[in-house]
Formats: sequence, C-alpha cells, structure tokens
Amino acid sequence: MKALLCESFGSSEQLLLKDIDTPVVNDNQVLIAVKACGVNFPDNLIIEGKYQFKPELPFAPGGEVSGIILSVGKNVKKLSEGMRVLALCGWGGFAEKVVVDANRVFPIPAQMDFLHAAGTLYNYGTSYYALKQKAAVQPGETVLVLGAAGGVGLAAVELAKMMGATVIACASSEEKLAICKSKGADHTILYDQDDLKKRIKEITNNKGVDIVYDPVGGTFAESALRSMAWNGRYLIVGFASGVIPELPFNLALLKGVSIMGIFWGSFAEKEPMENLKNLSELVHLFSIGKLTQHHYKIYALENAADALKDLKQRKVIGKAIIKIGDWEEKMMESIAHDPAPIANTTLKTEENPPVIFKSKTELKHHIGKNLGTTQWLEITQARINEFAEATMDFQWVHIDADKAASHLPGGKTIAHGYLTMSLASQFLYQLISIEKINSFVNYGINKARFINPVQVGSEIRMQASISHVEEMPNNGTKLFLNCSIEIKGQEKPAYVAEIISLIF
Ligand SMILES: NC(=O)c1ccc[n+]([C@@H]2O[C@H](COP(=O)([O-])OP(=O)(O)OC[C@H]3O[C@@H](n4cnc5c(N)ncnc54)[C@H](OP(=O)(O)O)[C@@H]3O)[C@@H](O)[C@H]2O)c1
Repeated sequence: MKALLCESFGSSEQLLLKDIDTPVVNDNQVLIAVKACGVNFPDNLIIEGKYQFKPELPFAPGGEVSGIILSVGKNVKKLSEGMRVLALCGWGGFAEKVVVDANRVFPIPAQMDFLHAAGTLYNYGTSYYALKQKAAVQPGETVLVLGAAGGVGLAAVELAKMMGATVIACASSEEKLAICKSKGADHTILYDQDDLKKRIKEITNNKGVDIVYDPVGGTFAESALRSMAWNGRYLIVGFASGVIPELPFNLALLKGVSIMGIFWGSFAEKEPMENLKNLSELVHLFSIGKLTQHHYKIYALENAADALKDLKQRKVIGKAIIKIGDWEEKMMESIAHDPAPIANTTLKTEENPPVIFKSKTELKHHIGKNLGTTQWLEITQARINEFAEATMDFQWVHIDADKAASHLPGGKTIAHGYLTMSLASQFLYQLISIEKINSFVNYGINKARFINPVQVGSEIRMQASISHVEEMPNNGTKLFLNCSIEIKGQEKPAYVAEIISLIF
C-alpha cells in the first residue's frame, strides 16, 4: 500500500511517498481503507518531533481519517467489516490503510460523505465540548473567537452561532474574516490592525464578552481577558502562536471569570459516553445541514506535504483534507452502506407460506383469523449496531457489551424497542401477500406495549391476525393487525401492538 512517510524528524518537505506492507490488526483494532484524512495543527509538530508523543520512525503522519473497515480484531464487538467510519489514529492516516484501536473508531451515517467525516472529530469535537460542556453557552451570550478562521476556531464560530450566541470573530486577514462571516460571525475584528479591547467595548456597549475561545495564546490573550463581562468563561484551547501567555490572576478575580482548560483528547478518554453523545449530535447536525464545514482545499496523497506547509504558513482557512485514492463518493456509499441482506426474511417458504389475498376485499373475510407465525430471526449485535448508527441513538444499553456485562440483569446488551418494532413490517411480508396492489406500507403503530427486553443473541418471531379493515376515500385501504413478537424460550412476548398498514 502507498503511504507518505516521515523517515526522520524535521520538516514536512522531507516526506516521501513509498510502498509499504499493509499493517496488521491486533485483537482490539480495526483495519481501515482510508478515503480521506484531515490535516491538523499537531501533524506538523509530530513531524518536527516537537509533540507530546513521538511515533517510531518511519511513520506516516495524519491523525484523523474516514474510510471503510476492511477487517476487525477478534475482540472488537461493535464494529464490523464494510462499515463507514471516522477514526482518530494519532498518525498513519496519510496512507491507503491504517490500523486504529476500536475505541477510537465511530460509525458515520450514509448522509455524511468521507471528506466531511475526516474534518469532524478534531475541530468540531473540540469546539463543541468547549462551548457545550465547559462554557455552557446560553442564547444571547457573546462569544469572542480568536484564530477564528483556523480549524477549531471556525468550528467554534459555527457552533456558537448555532447555540444562539452573538459571535465576534478575530483573524489576521479580511479574506479570513469574510469566511467567518459566512459561517455566522456577527462581528469581525482584524486583530493585527484593530485595537481588540476598544472594538470589543464598542461591539458590546461596554459590557464585555461572556466567553473567550482562545486557540492562539500569545499577545491577544490579555486584551481578551480584560474585555470580559462579569461571570465570563475564558476557554484555553491551544497556543497556535507558540506563546503560552502569563496573565495576572487578579483579572479573573475582579471579573468573576472562570478560566477553563480544554483538552478534548482527555475528555474523550475519561468521558467516552459523553463524547460519543457529542459526536452523534454533531454528525446529526451535519447530516441535516445545520453545520457545514469550510474546506480550504482537497489535496491528493502525493501533495499532502503542501497541505502541511499551507497550514504552517497560516494559509489554511477552516480545514485542509487529503483525499486518498481516486474514488467517487456515490459509488462507495452504495457499496459500503447497503445493509447486508437480512437473514431469515425470505418472503415465501414451503413450510411457512404467506396467506395470499387475491384482492383487498378478501382481507375483510379474514378479520379475527390468525395469519400464522413467521420464522425465527436472530437479533445480532451487528443488527443492533446498525440500528444505533441509522438512528444516531448510541445508548450504552444497546451497544456497550462490557458495561452491559456488569450493569444489566441479563449481562447482555438489549435491542432498542423501536428496533424490534421496526422489524414488524418485514415480518409481515412473510405472513401476507396481496395480489394486484401497488404498495403496502407500514403506516403506524397503535396501542403498543413493550413487555420484555430483547437481549442480543435472542431469536424472535411474530404472530399476527387482522383486527380491522377500513376503506379510504382515495381507493386506499387501512389494514389493522394485532401483532405479538415472541422471544424464543420465554413466556412473555417482547411486545404486543396493533400495527396499521396502508394498501393502495
Ligand atoms: N485543547 C484541545 O483539545 C485542542 C484540540 C484541537 C486543537 N487544539 C489546539 O488549538 C490550536 C489551533 O488549532 P487549529 O487546528 O485550529 O490550527 P489552525 O487551523 O492552524 O489555526 C490556527 C489559527 O491560529 C492563528 N495563528 C496565530 N498565530 C499563529 C502562528 N504563529 N502559527 C499558526 N497559526 C497562528 C491563525 O489565524 P490568524 O492567521 O488569523 O491569526 C490560524 O488560523 C493549536 O494549538 C492546537 O494544538 C487544541
């Protein structure tokens, strides 16, 4: 496989594109076919040997990837081959394949493309955590963002605006500020020219800002702190300027300001479920178009060193992304995301044929009669995970096998109630076949009662009878079915409900 290698610590210009062996997963890792890799501030520091950790030489830089899982280690439970994912690999992402610890890999929904996925975790994960968990930004508050056109800065502008804040963006050029405006900044400050304190006073009518988001450090930090309102929150995010400011503590005391350190990596490690929740919220916000990223440029793997150089020279606005290989998103989406055919849902089998209705009116003659029982269907963890991914509902009771082992009565994860319910429509196709109709849709559920949780590994099946048939004015028919989902070996059903289907 191809990888852009750093063979000795130094500048990004020394990186070399080479053919190397595909890395091998250990029991707790996954192998990912990389489709895109985000370029981040620490990448340059790692190559220069100035970061918190030094990878063994040679290595490929690139800490944040998106792609498709090619294989999984034997202890990996929540991820499977073919899944579209984003991942924090630390380094190794400027390559066609990378191995990543499974706990740093997250599924992405079909609506999110690989290029966006590769720009989500680091920038938006950091800024969302800072503004949501730490600053707890309230609508109507004022947020000052330093380095606002950089990776984390621009994400902070977009997120703070989405949270209802008034956003003041600071950057070093008009071009950068224009992008900040397009992402929602209400006011801009060209901090190389404007007097920061004076402009903040003007903009806030002398009140000061409630929150400072600071990924830059250096000379502007003290002016920003002096421009804060009572009960403000100063978020220390990073020191892109290379200078760690030393500030007088009395300012914080006089203004009742809380100084808050932001270390998203540690948050993700120490509070993984909170982080996962943030991430699924972010992915959802992207998929419904509430958040959009600004990609400065998409670079090919062979030109990835240029991306690092542009970032170092403060040219990059928003995010630089490396696209690995020549691929078409559409084609890959359909290959990677088409769910595997669901087992045991064959429409007609000789042992268990569906009841065939030759016309809609025949349905009425069957009211009160049993339609029969479907085949058993196993509820696997892969199915539960797919449902969590599709609905963005990652509650631990469904997906965290380790926690379930120690916290749940049966020691196993359980399927979401709505997952079991959603299977009703596919079960129905085993029970009923109606000739000469255009469409048969699951329209709604009446009077549902969830009785018994379905543990992973259980087998379930459905029994149904027609309770009521209603003609609709537009030639449609509403079919009411009493359904019960049985769990193999258990007396109590998973749920009973009246399902309404619409037939045209
Ligand atoms: N705490 C955390 O969890 C966390 C997470 C992610 C990132 N970070 C840190 O946050 C900082 C910014 O990261 P980023 O990804 O946003 O980087 P970036 O995309 O390179 O943006 C940094 C911004 O800082 C400004 N800047 C001022 N002086 C600079 C200098 N000497 N060199 C480079 N930029 C300078 C630039 O804006 P102007 O040209 O407009 O001044 C630039 O847009 C880094 O220190 C990074 O390590 C921390």
